[in-house]
Amino acid sequence: MSDDHPVRACMCTSLTFRTILHVAQDRGYTKVEQLTALLGCGGSCGLCRPYLQKMLETGETEFAVIPRAHR
Ligand code: FES
Repeated sequence: MSDDHPVRACMCTSLTFRTILHVAQDRGYTKVEQLTALLGCGGSCGLCRPYLQKMLETGETEFAVIPRAHR
């Protein structure tokens, strides 16, 4: 856990990106929409969606806050 990378979960579903990534890898998911359909993450407030996208692209599970202008 790093203070420089404080974003590590979907708050609405209480699922960590680490857990979500395992599911994505198990199922071969490549799209945020697939994760939203199965787990609900990204489907409520939507704030985690850019992080979920980055997680799928990079395999990282902890992120620095992405400025709103870049979401
Ligand atoms: S934080 Fe993931 S949908 Fe709200």
